[in-house]
Amino acid sequence: MSSRIIPVQPFDYVVFGATGDLTKRKLVPALYHRFVDGQFDEQSHIIGVSRTQLSDEEFRTLVRDSIKQFVEKEYQDKATIDRFVSICSYVANDVSNSENWADLGKVLRDSPKVIRAFYLAIAPDLFGPTCDFISKKKLYRRDARVVIEKPLGHDLESSIAINDEVSKIFKEDQVYRIDHYLGKETVQNLLALRFGNILFEPIWNSAHIDHVQITVAESVGAGTRGYYDESGALRDMVQNHIIQLLCLVAMEPPASDDANALRDEKLKVLRSLKPIIGSEVAKTTVRGQYRGGSVDGNAVAAYQEELPEEKQGSRTETFVAIKAEIENWRWANVPFYIRTGKRLPTRASEIVIQFRNIPHSMFDHAEGAPSANRLVIRIQPDEGVKLFLMIKDPGPGGMRLREVPLNLSFADTFTERTPEAYERLLLDVIRGQQTLFMRRDELEAAWAWVDPIRDAWDAASDAPQNYMAGTWGPTASIALIERDGRTWHEDSN
Ligand code: BG6
Repeated sequence: MSSRIIPVQPFDYVVFGATGDLTKRKLVPALYHRFVDGQFDEQSHIIGVSRTQLSDEEFRTLVRDSIKQFVEKEYQDKATIDRFVSICSYVANDVSNSENWADLGKVLRDSPKVIRAFYLAIAPDLFGPTCDFISKKKLYRRDARVVIEKPLGHDLESSIAINDEVSKIFKEDQVYRIDHYLGKETVQNLLALRFGNILFEPIWNSAHIDHVQITVAESVGAGTRGYYDESGALRDMVQNHIIQLLCLVAMEPPASDDANALRDEKLKVLRSLKPIIGSEVAKTTVRGQYRGGSVDGNAVAAYQEELPEEKQGSRTETFVAIKAEIENWRWANVPFYIRTGKRLPTRASEIVIQFRNIPHSMFDHAEGAPSANRLVIRIQPDEGVKLFLMIKDPGPGGMRLREVPLNLSFADTFTERTPEAYERLLLDVIRGQQTLFMRRDELEAAWAWVDPIRDAWDAASDAPQNYMAGTWGPTASIALIERDGRTWHEDSN
């Protein structure tokens, strides 16, 4: 089976921050893959912009290096790379300075047939000035698009300020706020699973679901990214990626896959999230910070040891667990346990839908008590879906029940390469398809939910609890779920 490649309209993709890490690691490899697949050709242009003085040729060398480093070897065909770099050019421009914008103007094509997109892979405090210059220097068009990415603020107020700045120039239907989790194949698959099958929707509610778990575990550390210490796991992962996953699990079926139909439903979930405030924060949230330990058999340093001297004593959390609740008919009394952390034993992201037990068992005790069904949606790695069911243990000797997973492994089922999230998202911008991007009101509702938790933590006298690198976070996060008579899902099958 091969995936359908639908070519997009020719475009001028302007990437501000073209010498930065995001461009090198994600944007160039993603665009290259789409080029290899024939989704666009030499009629499209990629224009790198940053402060560094570089010639087109020097920029093309950076592009080649990025492909060499971040694209799988089997896709590195010399002739294709040559064709790809031939559509890349460069303009040196300091976005906070009014000079040099004319050079950018000269390379942009003024044809309604060529889509114009601006990717702001730069610090958020430069979003406003950049949009402003785009307008003042007459590079703005009503059909142009602007792409921005987190951190989109560090709280509700700063997020509103960023959105206000951008929206002075670009209308909401021109703004593409990336949450790269929405571009992941398995995350989109959640929509297919829920709304492309009759099986789940009738039981997707509190009558049949006991609780939901969302885990996004990383074995990497926070490293030396200066940003992380300002952010912490709550802002870095929960406010965006995890809340987006929660919305996709919990939302009502949208009437269509139209961007606003879907985003309206997500917004309703966000607005139904029970606020966690005051004394509730200590009861329903856990924050942790890793100390030294061992991950995959390698000794790793404590978070504090990775920080520069002036940041020593930092109380930034590298782990969060929260018991969230959604106050609506579908989800009343169904907790959503979420957790995420750095330096956990393994990289594993999954959503677990734990169904309720059967109301009555016809089997006697010797035959084994039926376990409640569980649906595990594995986001990464080993992408797939497992539905744990009860079956009869094969063989003679009477009826014995046994739990086995019905296992859909994407690697075994599909032979094609799974595209990276950015591949889909970057071209959705050109298609004008906003479904997988966050709307302003969603983003702000997510901040409104997260802010009181952050405030309570900041006001608390205690520091995050320590956990040893290579473990599943502070013991309090185990207690958080076990207090309710439940356990975090561990897949031994
Ligand atoms: C980013 C966070 O948004 O997502 C990082 O800033 C995190 O801290 C990353 O490591 C995880 O993304 P992925 O795609 O590797 O799960």
